[in-house]
Amino acid sequence: QQADIVVLGSFMTDVVSYVSHLPRVGETLCGSKLAICCGGKGANQAVSATRLGANTAIIGKLGNDSFGKSYLDALKKEQIITDFVGLTSEALTGLAQIIVEDSGQNSIVIVPGANNYLTTQDVNNSKATFVKAKVMLSVLEIPRETVLTGLKLANELGVFTILNAAPAVENLEKDFYELADIFCVNETEAEMLIGQPVTNHDEALSAAHCLMGKGCKKHVLVTLGKHGALLLSRNDKDGFLDPVSVTAPEVKAIDTTGAGDCFLGALAYFLAYHPDFPLSKAVVNSCRVASKSVQKAGTQTSFPYKQELECDLFV
Ligand code: RIB
Ligand code: NA
Repeated sequence: QQADIVVLGSFMTDVVSYVSHLPRVGETLCGSKLAICCGGKGANQAVSATRLGANTAIIGKLGNDSFGKSYLDALKKEQIITDFVGLTSEALTGLAQIIVEDSGQNSIVIVPGANNYLTTQDVNNSKATFVKAKVMLSVLEIPRETVLTGLKLANELGVFTILNAAPAVENLEKDFYELADIFCVNETEAEMLIGQPVTNHDEALSAAHCLMGKGCKKHVLVTLGKHGALLLSRNDKDGFLDPVSVTAPEVKAIDTTGAGDCFLGALAYFLAYHPDFPLSKAVVNSCRVASKSVQKAGTQTSFPYKQELECDLFV
């Protein structure tokens, strides 16, 4: 089975506690509900794209433990191509401790574990999946050199690349900016990379210019949660196209965890299967898909299937 979308990414078991508000330092809080489910930014993006109908492969590493084995089963049930998912005994399956407050906002601590054992060699071994792929998505929950190998391979083979620089690190190397066709971050990641606050469209635009200055060759996308997203693209001279400010549909947020991943999986889907759509339309549509996910609890559990979405998204 040939993949149109390749995700070079991460797996985490999400342990989610629902609380009234995020705890302060030293505070013990009593949560109302607990959920244990499949997460990790890479896998979330793969699930999002697949539920819209994409043929998707994921390259990643799980622990050779019960969480890893049940995660692999879950991926197969989603019909994600798992030929290049490895199990390692060096570390446990990645884990994310997630706290979601009543407003729907969250905070997350991840322990990447097995994800740290995804190597450059693993990427090279999976070259066959890249050959006919249209889009590659990657994230920074796996070793940076592994991501770079993937970005280089995709560039060599003419595969369109989307880098979700999440979680953000200070002083991200120039190569990451240069090798991504779309460089995508959310507001907090943008702040971390450029050292300036990003809370609205105007600040997102200046952040996008800063990120372009760090080496982005084509598109910068800053996601702004309920405020939507901002897209800045270079023109074919040495300037920029008019920035595109996308507002997200107004909805009542229950749980925003993974909404950014839902957005990016959808974006990869639209790029791969509707290459005739202008990028701005793909971004608008992806915001609409992600806005469905925030209205339901959980991460992957809240990602919509194509048949649950309005038909006009696909024409
Ligand atoms: O983006 C949401 C994801 O971030 C969660 O599923 C969690 O696993 C962390 O990786
Ligand atoms: Na959700």
